[in-house]
Amino acid sequence: MRTQVAIVGAGPAGLTLAQLLHVEGIDSVVIENRSREYVEARIRAGVLEQGVVDLLTTAGVGERMTREGLVHEGIELQFAGERHRIDLKRLTGGKTITVYGQTEIVKDLIQARLTSGRPLFFEVDDVRLDGIGTTRPRVLFRHEDAAHELDCDVIAGCDGFHGISRPSIPANALRTFTREYPFGWLGILAQVAPSNEELIYSNHERGFALLTMRSPQISRLYLQCRPDEDIAEWPDERIWEELHARLEVPGWTLAEGPVLEKGITPMRSFVAEPMRHGRLFLAGDAAHIVPPTGAKGLNLAVRDVQLLAEALTAWLRKGSETLLDAYSTSCLRRVWRAEHFSWWMTTMLHKLEDGDPFAVRLQESQLRYVVSSESAATSLAENYVGFD
Ligand code: FAD
Ligand code: PHB
Repeated sequence: MRTQVAIVGAGPAGLTLAQLLHVEGIDSVVIENRSREYVEARIRAGVLEQGVVDLLTTAGVGERMTREGLVHEGIELQFAGERHRIDLKRLTGGKTITVYGQTEIVKDLIQARLTSGRPLFFEVDDVRLDGIGTTRPRVLFRHEDAAHELDCDVIAGCDGFHGISRPSIPANALRTFTREYPFGWLGILAQVAPSNEELIYSNHERGFALLTMRSPQISRLYLQCRPDEDIAEWPDERIWEELHARLEVPGWTLAEGPVLEKGITPMRSFVAEPMRHGRLFLAGDAAHIVPPTGAKGLNLAVRDVQLLAEALTAWLRKGSETLLDAYSTSCLRRVWRAEHFSWWMTTMLHKLEDGDPFAVRLQESQLRYVVSSESAATSLAENYVGFD
């Protein structure tokens, strides 16, 4: 097999890249090691920056998102038993966010890929990258018991944090930066109308909690927990009890419903530099991870491949390598802004492990500053809605 761009991984990064290249008339082959059913059922992020919504719409995959996505003009921060609204729209000159599940985006992108008639292989095995330091890279893999060799011009490593692309780069050619947090998020999907119109980020003495949603009928809720916590120790009743305690304020109650799904995600910050080695380009979680408190992971993945698609188009169509050469530096500038914002939101909102009273007072002071100073609120808002 031969293609222009071999894309490893059919998550938001890989599938969006495939669609952007298709719009430009550029060939690609996407390979994914999980099944279509698995990829379409995985519950992950839910908040889209306006710029990401616009990009997906321009790429021709925004139809259902426009119909079903929930446009939000603000978020609420809760601490010391009180709620404070951050008016994202007013503070950013009119920008909003859209709540639309990553799962739905992935479904829309897979549908678009199948409609395009271009190749997408699920359940591949034994994926290996070859010749990334040469001008003739190859991807080797197995599919339905047959061995395949895919010759290409470039490889896009969109296979997430645990993929094989990043480890295919010689260790001495990469610098990595990591921060592990001493907590995780226990997330549930519940069949109940969201109890609030907007997201609520709650700093509470029992730990952080977040109320978000997927649709007018489905709520998504998160609780700070230990990273190594066993989900078996969290029967539904215990989860609801904790959510009530951390989210409720006088005059407002949290509605309960059947729990459809639950899981625990550890939290980490991670960046690999540079995001390119020879003919291999990393995008999304393959290159960087943020803790979910800033709602940036999915947005960064889509922004990376926006730049990559532009750069590949300029190279493959006009022979210009300028954008390809700038790819890693351009992405990393945005990535580090999101790394800082996500770390800042995380440390401001979570219960700190050791309960250091000095740190607790600093957190309170920071939260009061954010909700009382127009400048501080604007800083949070412009980071949250994303930079263009
Ligand atoms: P992924 O979505 O990870 O896609 C990579 C794809 O590559 C996967 O489909 C994988 O199966 C495939 N793959 C892996 N290895 C191979 C291989 N060897 N060969 C072929 N294919 C391979 N962000 C938020 O903002 N809010 C959240 O609530 C949130 N929750 C999350 C929960 C979890 C459990 C995880 C892991 C992430 C969460 N994120 C969240 C982050 C966000 O979902 C990611 O940033 C986003 O999925 C990144 O997209 P991606 O395409 O780069 O990577
Ligand atoms: C979500 O809807 O899953 C979500 C929203 C905001 C976050 C993280 C996750 O910060």
